[in-house]
Amino acid sequence: MEVINNIDEYKNILKDEIKKNNLVIFPTETVYGLGANALSTKAVNKIFEVKTRAKNNPLIVHLKNASEIEKYAVIENEVEQKLIDSFMPGPLTIVLKKKSCIPESVTAGLDTVGIRVPSNEIAHRFLELVDVPIAAPSANISSRPSGTRVNDIFNEFDLKVNYIIDGGESRIGLESTVVKVIDNIPVILRPGFITKEDIIDIVGNCKVSEHVLKSVSLNEKVESPGMLYKHYAPNTKCLLVYSKDINTLRKIVNDNKTSKTIILGSEKLQDIPCFKFINYGNTLESISHNIFSLLRKCDMYNGDLIIIEGVEKVGLGLAIMNRLIRTSCFNYIEK
Ligand code: TXA
Ligand code: MG
Repeated sequence: MEVINNIDEYKNILKDEIKKNNLVIFPTETVYGLGANALSTKAVNKIFEVKTRAKNNPLIVHLKNASEIEKYAVIENEVEQKLIDSFMPGPLTIVLKKKSCIPESVTAGLDTVGIRVPSNEIAHRFLELVDVPIAAPSANISSRPSGTRVNDIFNEFDLKVNYIIDGGESRIGLESTVVKVIDNIPVILRPGFITKEDIIDIVGNCKVSEHVLKSVSLNEKVESPGMLYKHYAPNTKCLLVYSKDINTLRKIVNDNKTSKTIILGSEKLQDIPCFKFINYGNTLESISHNIFSLLRKCDMYNGDLIIIEGVEKVGLGLAIMNRLIRTSCFNYIEK
């Protein structure tokens, strides 16, 4: 895999690569994407193969401008239009009724399609130069933490993808907010940087899918199939812990730690004796920015348990906890 630092020097190569139905890894403001031509079933099938992704989990289609949405999907009401006008370009994916030009392989047979217009400048230039809609999941092998740094992604895809465009560290670090308007009310299927509160400010109303914080059994019908799978997980076993009260939190950590426990948390826990302490930052923004890369880093210490400090489930904290609950395979203590 070749790392591209200057996209302008690779314009024709990237255009050709996408034309040949190959994959290109590109940066966005949320996480890196594993992209391919969304209008080619052959290209889309390669994404599923390379990522070892379940075929019934649909992909998001990335467009260069919101004005292109109606080529690929139907905007059915004012609420959808308002969300598009207010949050695109940006870290929002909106699920809309699909048009027939979007292959079934992208949407896993659903009659809807997730559409996103990234605000990252390099993503925008990439989408402009290839001039086709790009289907892209997060750049990680299924069930692993999403890729937010070139170095984290490189080994996973080295022999399977020819080019990665380097855009530095992903600014946000967590994937986009996925929203679907149901009966005129926006419903968050996957929380992200754009919060419930942000959406209420614009359209006056917003619900969060009940699946965001709970496990989903395989035969349950869910609005967002991505919620079904083990996700965002390092190889080392994880335990997620949370308490508003610092003494309770410290007690849970002390009661559960092993002789080879890595603690991943804020400065609140940094003086607890343990095998290795890793500071993930002290604000929700820094935790979101760092978390996936640090989860990968934890594996390098060969511990036998990662105790992860949880956060309050409000604002961006809801998105962080949605990911961490899955990272820890629902091994979660809250008191
Ligand atoms: O920030 C992001 O969204 C990143 C970057 C690369 O844009 N992409 C990303 O894609 O996170 P992925 O494939 O890892 O997650 C897509 C999520 C899944 O949970 C999937 O189930 C949901 O979006 N999704 C996609 N299309 C959908 C649809 N038609 N209806 C419901 N959920 C959908
Ligand atoms: Mg993903």
